[in-house]
Amino acid sequence: MQSIKLNEAVMYCFGTPLFKARIRDHAAMNAELAAFLRKERDATPDKHMSAVRGWQGRKDLFEHDHPALNRLKGQVAKAVIAVTQTYFGQALDPAKCFVNGEMWGNIIPSGGYTKLHNHSKSHWSGVYYIDVDQTEGDWPENGCIEFVDPRSFPTAFHHPKFSMLPSLTIKPENGLMLLFPGWLNHYVHPYHGPAERISIAFNAMIRVDD
Ligand SMILES: [Fe+2]
Repeated sequence: MQSIKLNEAVMYCFGTPLFKARIRDHAAMNAELAAFLRKERDATPDKHMSAVRGWQGRKDLFEHDHPALNRLKGQVAKAVIAVTQTYFGQALDPAKCFVNGEMWGNIIPSGGYTKLHNHSKSHWSGVYYIDVDQTEGDWPENGCIEFVDPRSFPTAFHHPKFSMLPSLTIKPENGLMLLFPGWLNHYVHPYHGPAERISIAFNAMIRVDD
């Protein structure tokens, strides 16, 4: 009987990319970023975006000159160029790529969470975790970010053993950066822990010159 090699025929149409990157030796940069954002919180009111019981600052940090912020922006630019290359399968010359956009800080206390939302005007959106409490809490989703399956009807796949509804839940950790298309819905589960959680979010645009 002739065998059929189905694996060679699998194509994932309409797949949704999500990239994880880790910044090595992030401790000093993160400490400076945390101090900077705490100062920002004292000086600027909450912008009332998606966070509940938390502070989200002004969105123009991509233009703000600050040593640690500049270092992070460099890492974001490198990541944006890398994911663009990977996703579109095209080599890019970093010298001809320019990344900018919006960037803002988040400080979330115990009891805070983020409502379901997405990000507009963005090629790649993302978040970088600066100082997040790593304790487990009473449930595994404590303070985790959850990405929502963008497909319309994966529930139509009925099977007693298999499901097409993957739960993409990611636990924040210091130094971790996530990048995803701005249209991808996501939210953050309620966080309960002893310390505030500090992160920076961004909407990045990439220009590639000829
Ligand atoms: Fe978000």
